[in-house]
Amino acid sequence: MTDLKIGIVGATGMVGREYLGILELSRLPIGELRLFASARSRGMRMPFRGDELAVEELTVDACRGLDLALFSISTELTREYALPVAANGTLVIDDSSAFRLDPDVPLVVPEVNPEAVQRHHGIIAGPNCSTAQMVVVLAPLHRANPLRRVVVDTYQAASGAGKGALDELIDHTRQTLAGGTPAPNALPHPLVFNLFPAIDAFRDDGYSREEWKMQMETRKIMGLPDLRLSATCVRVPVAVGHSEALHVEFEHPMSPSKARGLLEAAPGITVVDDPAHGQYPQPIDAAGRDPVYVGRIRADSSLEGGIALWVVADNLRKGAALNAVQIAELLFAEAPVPVR
Ligand SMILES: NC(=O)c1ccc[n+]([C@@H]2O[C@H](COP(=O)([O-])OP(=O)(O)OC[C@H]3O[C@@H](n4cnc5c(N)ncnc54)[C@H](OP(=O)(O)O)[C@@H]3O)[C@@H](O)[C@H]2O)c1
Repeated sequence: MTDLKIGIVGATGMVGREYLGILELSRLPIGELRLFASARSRGMRMPFRGDELAVEELTVDACRGLDLALFSISTELTREYALPVAANGTLVIDDSSAFRLDPDVPLVVPEVNPEAVQRHHGIIAGPNCSTAQMVVVLAPLHRANPLRRVVVDTYQAASGAGKGALDELIDHTRQTLAGGTPAPNALPHPLVFNLFPAIDAFRDDGYSREEWKMQMETRKIMGLPDLRLSATCVRVPVAVGHSEALHVEFEHPMSPSKARGLLEAAPGITVVDDPAHGQYPQPIDAAGRDPVYVGRIRADSSLEGGIALWVVADNLRKGAALNAVQIAELLFAEAPVPVR
């Protein structure tokens, strides 16, 4: 494998910055790394492997010659840039929702459907951050005992809405503690000492688009077009790390001990489950780490044979940048990124 010319598109954003650290340790054969963002960031310098790389303004021409472009810009901008960049022979791995449900674009979580990468036509998508960590957990359970129904409630960090939202949470926390009442800007409501059940726009059926994405993307990744899944997505005043309460029904009864065994043996998962000693996944522990953490595994008291569990992961890593690098490794690496 010859050394790759890789570009990070959206390198100055929440996900883009995460790529730098993940690629530092990746075993992808990186010959050259280039960083792209808006004209506002042109010339900004970012560290990589002991060097400093200057951010370039994103244009289709500037991306010419890249083997791989890791896209993490808005869905609207992705729609504008990804197709022409791919048409120039660059493989695009995209974190936005621009192409996730396009039948010609594989939607991939390497622990779940690695074989799908082979079907790409120049663009591969990664899922929504809440979907990524959920399917890593659902897949090993489903392989042992087919899923019938999933109910999921999310507790999503501010960074999931981008750098502007995280900066706003931090600034507004300071202002609120000083007695101010700052008006929300990057987020639709105040998030300090608050939460709200509204992520993305609402649809006519009463679900938010985030909730709908969890349903549709899970069906596509798991190859279960009729899976019954209902989500409620909530933004909470956490910096990094999405949490999810999952209630899962199976074709046959599933015991908590069987589920725990399956999850302990599954790739990408760390079980942290000793509530009596205060051991359960928390976003503050998951932030900056690779695994999807699972705990509170118990029988669902509302459903014979069903289980309830609690799932936490870093939304910027498994939810976006790490997942994309793992996809690239399926195609190009000598060995995968070690889980940290
Ligand atoms: N955050 C998450 O947890 C997460 C998880 C999964 C997927 N995603 C998806 O990943 C994408 C990026 O999310 P994010 O949270 O990293 O957003 P973000 O923090 O707001 O970063 C946005 C990036 O887009 C760049 N950008 C803005 N306007 C541009 C332009 N005209 N030309 C080129 N670049 C431009 C920004 O560059 P400047 O700094 O120069 O403005 C920045 O690098 C989104 O599609 C999001 O849905 C995010």
